[in-house]
Amino acid sequence: MGRWSRCLATQFVSWLCIPPGVHWLDVGCGTGSLANAICSHTEPASVVGCDPAEPLIEFARNRSRDARVTFVAAGVGGLPRRPGGYGSVTSLLALNFFPNCEAAVQEMRSVSALQGTVSACVWDYSDRMEFLRRFWDAAATVDSTARALDEGKRFPICHPDALTRLFRSGRLVDIRCDAIKILTTFSSFGDYWQPFLGGTGPAPSYVASLDTNRRAILSQKLDETLPRGPDGTIVLTARAWAVRGTVS
Ligand SMILES: C[S@@+](CC[C@H](N)C(=O)[O-])C[C@H]1O[C@@H](n2cnc3c(N)ncnc32)[C@H](O)[C@@H]1O
Repeated sequence: MGRWSRCLATQFVSWLCIPPGVHWLDVGCGTGSLANAICSHTEPASVVGCDPAEPLIEFARNRSRDARVTFVAAGVGGLPRRPGGYGSVTSLLALNFFPNCEAAVQEMRSVSALQGTVSACVWDYSDRMEFLRRFWDAAATVDSTARALDEGKRFPICHPDALTRLFRSGRLVDIRCDAIKILTTFSSFGDYWQPFLGGTGPAPSYVASLDTNRRAILSQKLDETLPRGPDGTIVLTARAWAVRGTVS
């Protein structure tokens, strides 16, 4: 997912349109895609990336050479604070993984400065995050238990109405929720399928749980149904929902 999260990070940062000189907090920063995009596309005063997964923080620290960025092992429930708060508290592709989204948004708000921006961006799993949508739809025809693992079912928060309600209940104002689309291009079926064999994440874990026969049926079903361009490439849309609100 890393290559698509880097692409999305850039578009999310430009959608946010945060002025230069702002102190940022990136919650659930993972390997630092968003923190790096913030440094490349805005002029932040500082960026703190936090994530409870220490190996990801270690990776992010080793990857970033920007003196404005620091990465700390911390998560929702113990977000890093700064005197005066952060002007922008954000989160990319992580909100739906937090144990309690309401508490997370309230805490994001509480570490923000007055008039600061709280924001998040999540995949539209149930509809136009097409390469995963097609995967789970094909999996459901092969195996009825797949539905329970489908992120489209598991994460109802990844919908514009739910996100808007969440931000409203977090006492944010001037709330806006928009779609951000990227194109995910796979050079061949192998390029599409290979990442599903990696074992990490819901879909790859599901593939790893299948016996050889079912895995072959699923792969064949996808190979037969994915749309191909004249040169054999598979181009799909991946839509995400970006939401923001202001601390009044
Ligand atoms: C799909 S990854 C997204 C990572 C990164 N933002 C990106 O776009 O590449 C979700 C991240 O949320 C983090 N996460 C899970 N629970 C968390 C929590 N309670 N507080 C903060 N981060 C959390 C995970 O460790 C993981 O790095």
